[in-house]
Amino acid sequence: MENKVFIELQQAMLRYRTGKVALSGVNLTIEKGQFVYLIGESGAGKSTLLRMIYGGIRPTSGQMLVQGVDMRQAKEKQIRLLRQRTGVVFQDHKLLFSRTVFENVALPLRVQGWKSDRLVARVGKVLDFVELKDRLWAYPEALSGGEQQRIAIARAMIATPPVILADEPTGNLDNETAFRVLNLLLALNKMGATVITATHDLQFLDSHPGRVLRLHEGSLAEDSHADK
Ligand SMILES: Nc1ncnc2c1ncn2[C@@H]1O[C@H](COP(=O)(O)OP(=O)(O)OP(=O)(O)O)[C@@H](O)[C@H]1O
Ligand SMILES: [Mg+2]
Repeated sequence: MENKVFIELQQAMLRYRTGKVALSGVNLTIEKGQFVYLIGESGAGKSTLLRMIYGGIRPTSGQMLVQGVDMRQAKEKQIRLLRQRTGVVFQDHKLLFSRTVFENVALPLRVQGWKSDRLVARVGKVLDFVELKDRLWAYPEALSGGEQQRIAIARAMIATPPVILADEPTGNLDNETAFRVLNLLLALNKMGATVITATHDLQFLDSHPGRVLRLHEGSLAEDSHADK
């Protein structure tokens, strides 16, 4: 039977090189297909947890499995394979300003060896989804912040990854644009993707329901699914 668990953490701890313990004693299971909000004060550990799921940093102690891969022991190649199945909207994965929207969005598929003729059709389809098809040949600097964010989502979803990780995808956006961005993430979830998003925008928790995990000073302080 296919494994339904996406990630599993047991007593996971993360200490940065500076000595800062950003997460500790985290016990958590996230099943495939869930829509999860990571909330909590600035410095609570939200971005740290997302980076750990992406394999950017490894747990210092405890256990962490991502799609069955032990993230403390994993070889670089295993991490690379996980990443190919993960779309990210992270602050440090900004759009390349020297490339067109098309090239930015096509990047994950180029890595997989797709050739240009198929690419144009696929990129067009995804840009249609984020309602920016007319900007295919624009450069990112000619787009508003919200449009750039939607392009980042288009890039995250282009390879139809089963997992989407987003770190403050609605940060710095006006309400209406933030709604659109969140609607896109929710639509991807409805199509089957596991979505984990860090946010400060608590207003969405009512309009866009999901599992809420609250981190506080590096610990899991609240889990809306704890009783289920
Ligand atoms: N690369 C790093 N090296 C050392 N300490 C770090 C590093 N990144 C984050 N930290 C520290 O780890 C803690 C958790 O940071 P993290 O970025 O995960 O918080 P966050 O919940 O995402 O906060 P925010 O809402 O401000 O984005 C903070 O105390 C932060 O200063
Ligand atoms: Mg953060």
